[in-house]
Amino acid sequence: MPLMNPALPSVFIRALGVYTPEKKLTNEDLSKMVDTNDEWIKSRSGISERRIAGPHENPSDMGAWAAANALKNAALKPEDIDLLIVATMTPDVPFPSTACLLQAKLGLRRDIPCFDISAACSGFVFALQVGHDMMRSGNYQRALIIGSEKLSGVLNWEDRTTCVLFGDGAGAAILEKTSEPNVGILGNLLGSDGTNAELIHSVAGGSAKPTTPETLQNREHCLRMNGKEVFKLAVRVMSESCERVLKQCGVSSDQVAWFIPHQANYRILEAVAGQLNVGLDRFPSNLDRFGNTSAASIPLALEEAWRKGKIKHGDLILLVAFGSGLTWGATLLRWHEPKK
Ligand code: UT7
Repeated sequence: MPLMNPALPSVFIRALGVYTPEKKLTNEDLSKMVDTNDEWIKSRSGISERRIAGPHENPSDMGAWAAANALKNAALKPEDIDLLIVATMTPDVPFPSTACLLQAKLGLRRDIPCFDISAACSGFVFALQVGHDMMRSGNYQRALIIGSEKLSGVLNWEDRTTCVLFGDGAGAAILEKTSEPNVGILGNLLGSDGTNAELIHSVAGGSAKPTTPETLQNREHCLRMNGKEVFKLAVRVMSESCERVLKQCGVSSDQVAWFIPHQANYRILEAVAGQLNVGLDRFPSNLDRFGNTSAASIPLALEEAWRKGKIKHGDLILLVAFGSGLTWGATLLRWHEPKK
C-alpha cells in the first residue's frame, strides 16, 4: 500500500456525468412478481425503487451517455480523452469489451487504449486506481473512468432474495493530470479474496460451463448471493479499508467531508458509519431510488453530491466498495476545482 510518490503529477476528477434509465420498478411492482413486500425490502435494504434498462439501454449505451454528460460538464470533447476504462460485471457481450463498444458509440479517438475491468461492485474504485496509475506513469492527460451496469439482465426474477436488490445505470468520471501537488487521489487500497468467490457468483454462461437450454432453465447464468455472509464481510472489510487508507494518508475520519460508499444496503452504510464513529449524514445514499447498481453506484452517488453542490474545493472524500470476487477497495481524494 504505497503512499503516492510526490515526484509524480497529481490526478483529480475534473467532472462527473450519469445516466439512469427512465423505467422505474417499485417495491410494489415487485410484490406482484415474487413473494415480497415494500415493508420487507425497505426495512432490510433501504430500497424503494430501482431503474430497469430497456433493450436499447445496454452498458455501452448507458456508459456512453454518462460519459457524454461528463464531457459536457467539463466543456470537453471526445477527442480530448486519451484512455477509457469501463468497470462492469454485466458487459454487453463477453467480447469485445464494453469499453471498445463504448469508444465507438462516443466517438473517442481510434488510437487510445480502451478496456474493461471486472471487479464487480468494487469495479469503479479499481478502475479509478488503474487509470490514476497509468496516467501518472504514462503519457495520458485525461481518462474516462466509467461504471456501467445492467444487472436486470443477469437477475433471476423468481428469486426474491436477489431480484429486489439490484438496478441499472451508469456513472462516469473524467480524470485529469495536474502539476498541482496534494490534490485529487491521495491514497488507495485494493484487495481481493478468491477463496470466497461463491458468495456472489453465477455458475454458467462462461467458457467453463457454456449456456445450454438446461443452464438457462436452471437460471445458472443468473446472479446468486449468500446475502447474510456478504453483509457481515462487507461491514467489516469496508470499515477496515477506510481505516487503513486514512492511516496511510495520516488523515482522521473527522477530516473527511464525505464518505461515498458502494450502495448495497442502507444497513451496511449505518454499520460502517458506526464502526468509523462518523455521522450517517456524511454518507450520501441513493439506494432508495436506484438500489444496488454495482460498479455504477459510487459514481452515481458522487455525481449527485457534486451536482447538488455538497462537494467543495479542498474537501476530503473517501470512496469505499465491496463486492463479488470477493473484491474491495478504498480511495481517498481531495476534491480539486481548477482555477478558470
Ligand atoms: O453489492 C455486493 C455486496 N452485496 C451486499 O452487500 C448485499 C449484502 N446482504 C444484504 O444486503 C442482506 O443480507 C439482504 C438484504 C440480502 C438480506 O437481508 P437479511 O436481513 O440478511 O435477511 P435474510 O437473508 O436473513 O432473510 C431473512 C428472511 C428469510 O426468511 P426466514 O428464513 O427468516 O423465514 C428470507 O427467506 O427474509 C426472507 N426473505 C424475504 N422476505 C420477503 C428474503 N428475501 C425476501 C424478500 N421479501 N425479498
